[in-house]
Amino acid sequence: MAFTVIGFSLIQLVGEYLFTQRSRDDQRIADSLAEGFSDYLVAFDARSMYESARETARAQQSRVLVLDALCVVQVDTASELNGQRFITAEIDRVLNGSGGDYGFYDARNSAGGFFLLAALNGFSRANAMTGVYASPIRQGGTLIGVLVYISQVQEIYESLRDIQIRIISWMAIVLVAVLLINALVLRTITRPIGELNEGISRMSKGDLSARVRVRGNNEFAGLARAFNSMSERLEQLDKSRSQFVSNASHELKTPLSTMKILIETLMYQDPPDPAMTKEFLTDANQEIDRLNRIVSDLLTLVNIDNGMKLNLAELDIGALLQEQVKRLAPLARENGVELDCALKETLEVNGDQTKLQQVVYNIIDNAIKYTPRGGEVHCALNRSSKKAVIRVTDTGVGIPAEDLPHIFDRFYRVDKARSRETGGTGLGLSIVKQFVLLHGGTIDARSAPGKGSTFIIELPLAEKKKEA
Ligand SMILES: Nc1ncnc2c1ncn2[C@@H]1O[C@H](COP(=O)(O)OP(=O)(O)OP(=O)(O)O)[C@@H](O)[C@H]1O
Ligand SMILES: [Mg+2]
Repeated sequence: MAFTVIGFSLIQLVGEYLFTQRSRDDQRIADSLAEGFSDYLVAFDARSMYESARETARAQQSRVLVLDALCVVQVDTASELNGQRFITAEIDRVLNGSGGDYGFYDARNSAGGFFLLAALNGFSRANAMTGVYASPIRQGGTLIGVLVYISQVQEIYESLRDIQIRIISWMAIVLVAVLLINALVLRTITRPIGELNEGISRMSKGDLSARVRVRGNNEFAGLARAFNSMSERLEQLDKSRSQFVSNASHELKTPLSTMKILIETLMYQDPPDPAMTKEFLTDANQEIDRLNRIVSDLLTLVNIDNGMKLNLAELDIGALLQEQVKRLAPLARENGVELDCALKETLEVNGDQTKLQQVVYNIIDNAIKYTPRGGEVHCALNRSSKKAVIRVTDTGVGIPAEDLPHIFDRFYRVDKARSRETGGTGLGLSIVKQFVLLHGGTIDARSAPGKGSTFIIELPLAEKKKEA
């Protein structure tokens, strides 16, 4: 819009400039001729006037008329109007006392009147646009005649039209360019932002499957990729969360159903059998223990997810390992598994005692649980550069290669029936892994089915304070 206004103003300005320039020049010629003709007119020297006017008319390709005070043509360089009255608006204004005056006419247009047409038809039809300049001829302050200078201004019209065409074509080119740029901007900025916006609003309504199209390789594409990976992650998280809830409910349901059966059997016992009652109550009590364990494991996991804080202190990791071995010795004895512990040196780590106790306990507990009678479990502590390395090796059932990457997942159990028999819920190793990661350590498992497994935990050693 602004562009069109600028274009048209430019055309008008250029036109005005061209015509002002030209009319000023022509008016000057008319004025100087009028001044020179004053004496000739007084002396009625038509011949001298004609000759002088002819020269100018020929040189300028124009036509000169000399009128007396009654507007009768005395001299016409085209020799057509001699003796006739000739009057135009400009001439009229000059007669009424104004100085030089001029106007532009289109010879094809009859509005100029008969005389004007007659005056102008000395030019070819193609040179239709004509300027008429009237200038007073004075003698001693009295108006004695009017000089009319008629010149072609067709070429100014033509060059103006040229400029118009050029400006309009440039405007058209710029308009097309603007439209193209607009389309480009729409494609590269507006549309991706719109799609992103739509994706975000879908996501905020709970549709985590929302993804946006990645176009090109610019910042918006980067943003789209970031959005997609974020929504993918959120979707995964959402899935694993609902999976977790469903697994947890299932794990809680199992002991509850067992207890319900036990209690119903006892309720409908008739007559009550004391031995059976005792046995069933013992079983129900065990199920309650199991429920308790699951619930406290779940609470631990929830705490970890909520950003659990560690209660850090420098501790002797060897002593901690030995302590847990001692705690589990009765279980090992009961299962007919040999359990030993080899400590080479005293190593200190910066850790949370209760959590590291749970880590070591769980690993050794698994090793004993998944090792058949007659097997062995060896614990060892070594230093490797700036790390304390705990190794728990057993000669147990081992873990198949396809299960190995999943054993640290929540609720993952290799042999579901068997591990439930041993009281496991599949939460132990996932808690262990989170605790080790919280300490800045790593945990790894190696295993060969039927031959046994080795769990390796690495924890950063406590920085020794420099002695003064
Ligand atoms: N030393 C091991 N030897 C063989 N399999 C093992 C060993 N340790 C763990 N596993 C396998 O990994 C699974 C996951 O272990 P995890 O400790 O997380 O669960 P769990 O022992 O079954 O139950 P809990 O939550 O009571 O510890 C186990 O069910 C078992 O199949
Ligand atoms: Mg376990």
